Amino acid sequence: MKVLIVTEKPFAPQAVQEIENIIENAGHTFGKLEKYTDKSQLTDAVKDADAIIIRSDIIDKEVMDAAPKLKVIVRAGAGYDNVDLDAATQKDICVMNTPGQNANAVAELVFGMLLYVQRNHFDGTTGNELKNNRLGLYAFGNVAKMVARIARGFGMPIYAYSPILTHDDLRKEGEYGVISVYSAEELFENSDIISLHMPLLEETEKCVNYNLLSRMPNPAIVINSARKEVINEDDMMRIMEERPKFKYITDIKADRHDEFVAKFPDRYFTTPKKAGAQTSEANVNAGLAAARQVVAFLKSGDDRFRVNPK
Ligand code: 3PG
Repeated sequence: MKVLIVTEKPFAPQAVQEIENIIENAGHTFGKLEKYTDKSQLTDAVKDADAIIIRSDIIDKEVMDAAPKLKVIVRAGAGYDNVDLDAATQKDICVMNTPGQNANAVAELVFGMLLYVQRNHFDGTTGNELKNNRLGLYAFGNVAKMVARIARGFGMPIYAYSPILTHDDLRKEGEYGVISVYSAEELFENSDIISLHMPLLEETEKCVNYNLLSRMPNPAIVINSARKEVINEDDMMRIMEERPKFKYITDIKADRHDEFVAKFPDRYFTTPKKAGAQTSEANVNAGLAAARQVVAFLKSGDDRFRVNPK
């Protein structure tokens, strides 16, 4: 069978080599399409693929239509909002992710970005520390847990709210040292820094809105290592206009990026290209997990990380 890596943003070479070994040792043919710039390259590459390993690559119905042999798509990473799950189910294609495999890399970047912004881009002027700032984790999955672990080292009190875990479930996560709160409103009221960790779903789209942002103390920071769509950008723009000490830090460029940069050059910061999971370690962890999942699925139908209904 043909297994293809499809990555507009490539894995580290070491990860690619090890993925290739896993695929070929299992008796499959390996191929790759990296750094493509046009969708036609993608639709052309997948035409004889039985399996594809992807990152944030958009796999919609058109791509699946171009891949009549496709049986499995593994998203080497956590979020799978880039795959049309309904189309996959209709075509009997299994979609899986590799939960947790790149979580540490994303969590470390959260602190990298926070330090960079709080130290004024290391320009020599007086900045601020993270210690004693109350950190609010909005949602509590793998990345949030890693963020909590690191935040303890910085001496930050940590609050958490999860729309899917109950208050008691969160309280039981004692090892992370988080204070569980009852609502998103309570979280924003009690946090100097909010870090976002929810997946992009219909329910989470634009969920970070004026109602929540306006509850934060002054000064305040929102840091986004999730998806740009979870932010209501109009509301973010409004709160930053109203509050001269409000900062927005994001690993995913805002839709209104140019406007944010023009209006708030010192208070809006984004990485040039989503960098959270872009470490060799995360590439190896997620890429190899994806390769093993592909091999297991093709061998025995093992779909333990399946995310689309059958
Ligand atoms: C994820 O959902 O795992 C992260 O957003 C990483 O995305 P990337 O593989 O495109 O870097």
